[in-house]
Amino acid sequence: MTLPTVLVVAVALIDADGRVLIAQRPEGKQLAGLWEFPGGKVDPGERPEAALIRELKEELDIDVNEACLAPFVFASHAYDSFHLLMPLYLCRRWSGVVQNREHAALKWVRPNQLSDFPMPPADEPLVAWLRDLL
Ligand code: CDP
Repeated sequence: MTLPTVLVVAVALIDADGRVLIAQRPEGKQLAGLWEFPGGKVDPGERPEAALIRELKEELDIDVNEACLAPFVFASHAYDSFHLLMPLYLCRRWSGVVQNREHAALKWVRPNQLSDFPMPPADEPLVAWLRDLL
């Protein structure tokens, strides 16, 4: 069976202390309660970086310069009804103060604490990559 591919972009926002932002998925959404790297679906025809800039404004009210966004590693996970392809971008610079606009909660955590937070299965492998990098 061929599953449709869904492209989601996600970001590891890294603050001056080397902590990473994770966001808890809200009630009423798939995978509610799990902690994810912020981001969202790429609209048809949209460039992934533009999608990430749009999502970061919508979800966190911050502005990110496209030059700061380079994909770091891709997650690829087959859920029951779709195949998720999800590049994780790294971002250390943004303007504005992070606000919670759409999630149940936000948390800044040290890379070695990321595995204490239950994540969607697609996000989990990204944690080891990040821990090794940071
Ligand atoms: O808001 P909605 O759940 O419709 O979409 P989304 O958050 O943009 O993500 C689409 C789907 O991708 C979610 O339902 C999750 O199954 C998956 N996803 C994930 O596994 N990990 C993420 N960090 C974000 C999304």
